[in-house]
Order: sequence, then structure tokens, then C-alpha cells
Amino acid sequence: MTRVSPKSGPATPGLPRHVAIIMDGNGRWAQARGQPRPFGHQAGVKAVRRIVGAARDRGIEVLTLFAFSQENWKRPPLEVRLLMELLMTVLERELPDLQANGIRLRVIGEHSGFSAALRARIAEAEQLTARNPAMTLVVAVGYGGQWDIVQAAQRVAARGEAITHDALEAELVTAEWPAPELLIRTGGECRISNFMLWQLAYSELYFTDVLWPDADAPLLDDALRWYAGRERRFGGVPQAQA
Ligand code: IPE
Ligand code: IPE
Ligand code: MG
Repeated sequence: MTRVSPKSGPATPGLPRHVAIIMDGNGRWAQARGQPRPFGHQAGVKAVRRIVGAARDRGIEVLTLFAFSQENWKRPPLEVRLLMELLMTVLERELPDLQANGIRLRVIGEHSGFSAALRARIAEAEQLTARNPAMTLVVAVGYGGQWDIVQAAQRVAARGEAITHDALEAELVTAEWPAPELLIRTGGECRISNFMLWQLAYSELYFTDVLWPDADAPLLDDALRWYAGRERRFGGVPQAQA
């Protein structure tokens, strides 16, 4: 029995069901072009479009994109404001494409700091795409892995129940999806930056120096090929020796 990630296990051999991506490097991409950081965030949206299309075409069931961490609130107010405006615009502009491609959108994170208008737009986009069958696109905004574990524990405790592995896991904001089998981080940093701390317990971690605005289908294919060659042991022994 695997206690960790009970819902994981590829439907297609070698293909992860759930891929999570830390989209990093927008600021450096812009700076390298002598442009302000928001220019990189705008270019990053185009990369999101490419990767979402590619993931869907390859049969990925769930794609989670880390777009804004709880710690990103520390950024200069102007950058934060522009990122929120970008999210607002993108949610509206991309809806027809999500619908046409059968993509269901979910937005996870602590949203109490968002404007009422942004929260309403998120709810509307989730509702409109709720029955789309091709792929679930999860966007993590205002998300933190530590926050996720704490809010899950608080929900269990509020019911007066014991905090067990299964009870806690069932309250994570990602509870309805399998844990990501593959995590990709662009931008060259080899760290998790408070992303899905619980869910990544046994994920394969793929780090690349490519800056997010340059991410494209071949990058995803490289990561998927690398993943297909990994042996996942979950603390056990190699299959040949079992
Ligand atoms: C990732 O790119 C996007 C967000 C965190 C919002 P960055 O903005 O962190 O870009 P770098 O890492 O500074 O290049
Ligand atoms: C991680 O990138 C968060 C997102 C991509 C949304 P950061 O740029 O915030 O991470 P650090 O500060 O380099 O760890
Ligand atoms: Mg960064």
C-alpha cells in the first residue's frame, strides 16, 4: 500500500495525470530585453497559452500553474497591481478559448486579499467552464503550501475530528485531483518556494534554466520524456528486486 499520493498512478503508462509548473523567470526575461518586469509577465501569458494547449493535446488530465504565491504580495505594489489586472484581463479574454478547447478552470489559493470584482470573475469563469471534459487547468494564485496544510488542519479540527493523514489530505484545496506526478520549474532556481508542500512529497522534480516566457511545447515534451524514464519507488525497492 502506498500511503502517500493514493490517487496517483498514470492512466497512460509513462504519462503523468497531473503536471504542476512553477512558472518562474518573467522578470529576468524582461530585464534581459531592457524592459520593465511587467513586460515579462505579459509575455508569460503567451507561454501559458502554449503550454495549456500542449498539455491538453498530450492527454494530461490536470495541469496546475503557480501564478502568484502568498509571498509574492511582498513585491512592489505596482507590480502586484499589474499582476492582478493581468489576471483579471486574462480570465475574461481566455474564456472563449477555454470553452472551445474543453478546458475546465479552477483557481486555488487564499483569495481574501483580492478585489470583489476579481473574486467574482474567478467564480464566473469556474462556473462557466465547470463541465468541460478535456483537461482541468488549476491556477494557483495567492497560494501557499503551508497555508494549504494549515487551512486543511483547521477544517478537520473545527469538526472536532482527529487529524489523520487521510482527513487532512481530504481538506487540501487540491483534494479532488491526484498529486502531481511531475513538477516542472522554469527559471533556473532549484527550490519549491512554498508551492504544494504536501502534494509534492513524491513528485518527480524537473528544473530547467529556460525562463517562463520562452516555455513551449518542446519544453513540456522534454520534461515528459524525462519523467517517462524515471523509476518511482515511493520508498520501496526497485521493481527488478521486488
Ligand atoms: C514568475 O516570474 C512570475 C511570478 C512570480 C508572478 P518572476 O516575476 O518571479 O521572474 P524572476 O524570477 O524575477 O525572473
Ligand atoms: C515562485 O516564484 C512563485 C511563482 C512562480 C508564482 P518566485 O520568483 O516568487 O520564487 P523565489 O522568490 O525565487 O523563491
Ligand atoms: Mg522569480
